[in-house]
Amino acid sequence: MSETKNTTLDAASERLLQYDNIEIAKGLLAEIEKKAGRKLTYYVKTFGCQMNARDSEKIEGILEMVGYEEAESENADFVLYNTCTVRENANNKVYGRLGNLLNMKKKNPYMKIALCGCMMQEPEVVEKIKSSYRKVNLIFGTHNIYKFAELLVHCLSSDKMLIDIWKDTDKIVENLPVKRKFSFKSGVNIMFGCNNFCSYCIVPYVRGRERSREPIEIIRECESLVKDGVTEIMLLGQNVNSYGKNLENPIRFSDLLREVNKIEGLKRIRFMTSHPKDLSDDLIAAMAECDKVCPHMHLPLQSGSDRLLKLMNRHYTKEQYLNLVEKLRNAMPNVAITTDIIVGFPGETEEDFLETMDVVRQVEYDNAFTFIYSKRTGTPAARMDDQVPEDVVKERFDRLLALVQENAAKKANLLTGSVAEVMVEQMNEQDESLVTGRLANNALVHFPGKAYMIGNLYQVQLEECKGFYYLGKVVNP
Ligand code: 5AD
Ligand code: SF4
Repeated sequence: MSETKNTTLDAASERLLQYDNIEIAKGLLAEIEKKAGRKLTYYVKTFGCQMNARDSEKIEGILEMVGYEEAESENADFVLYNTCTVRENANNKVYGRLGNLLNMKKKNPYMKIALCGCMMQEPEVVEKIKSSYRKVNLIFGTHNIYKFAELLVHCLSSDKMLIDIWKDTDKIVENLPVKRKFSFKSGVNIMFGCNNFCSYCIVPYVRGRERSREPIEIIRECESLVKDGVTEIMLLGQNVNSYGKNLENPIRFSDLLREVNKIEGLKRIRFMTSHPKDLSDDLIAAMAECDKVCPHMHLPLQSGSDRLLKLMNRHYTKEQYLNLVEKLRNAMPNVAITTDIIVGFPGETEEDFLETMDVVRQVEYDNAFTFIYSKRTGTPAARMDDQVPEDVVKERFDRLLALVQENAAKKANLLTGSVAEVMVEQMNEQDESLVTGRLANNALVHFPGKAYMIGNLYQVQLEECKGFYYLGKVVNP
């Protein structure tokens, strides 16, 4: 086992160093391929959120540049799991798959196994892998992804387990290679980390403190994506509403949106995630005035009970949240509102839960992600007494889900018969005469079309609503 040095290079020199390492890795891979008598392949499996998906694209960009070919499954020569730890079951999934992977490694002498992402920032996890999964080749965390080329060089030169986990970083290294999953849409990180410390959440411990990218770098990246055929951009951050506050020249997220909105050729802008405590009137105004910004707000509620919101360290009340929803709907009558809700936070009573149900009933969300509270070691909530019994949580969860689904179906049905703008994303997977696209509110629509339509917007009549998707046809093609 060894560790690489946490170097003190500036970001620009760091970038050059990584490109040097890509060249070294290329040479090493070519030698191994000669020995093996075949091309070597990679497979990256991403767990968790959009941030992880974007990180995986960066890792894949380097693997491709080095010369690996993409494989369809884990039957590959370099397999990487980019992990999530936001809930316990995400961790269990990784351990289960890792066991199988190590069996495959016994049959392939060229196989390397790498693990990265949020789960690796937890010392207990790394200890467990060190003791029980000793054939893993590389473990790194969330703060040093930009050093992946360098880590890959170590990994290709030695069979020893390499562990490189940092507690934090203040460095943002720009312009490393990226392999996009979709030709026409892309995530763009605008900030990293989170400073909110919601009491149930492990993210601030594994993703570190909030760091914003310079607006000029963000705009440059968006422009170059658009030149490369991207028509939809999702601006990514754990709490985009506090973007730019800690920059040397502070800038508001709303003003960043206005700048991105000016990029010619870009058609749609989305963003994730907003924290209600930081949602300003100016952001609502910017959303309403920027024609490319989708009228969709993902606004995590977590709980409707003021008592629990306080214990969760969320810094808003039920009333303040409902006020925000009203402001959003006043500014954009067609805005789609979605949310995240946790059921079974320690000490949640039936009254607390009914407050949550009440908000769901009042807001009539277009969709909601509902989660059963998961105890994360090291967070304040994990130390709270009064963990709610499993059967009670399950019963509440089912009631909430039924209400959420009922609302979502009602909302979706309202659009039946109307004409709406759809971004075509791909050919339909079941029927090759159809294409599949998304409405501004993210709902799926299938309609007759051809491959050249991918990445473009069409006016589509939504003829039939099938619950969570629509069937339609292009109006005046
Ligand atoms: N248990 C359950 N859900 C959680 N989330 C974050 N931490 C936990 C946890 N410990 C949910 C929140 C957040 C979403 C990304 O994951 O609802 O908004
Ligand atoms: Fe977790 Fe809260 Fe930060 Fe979201 S805002 S990542 S829920 S601590």
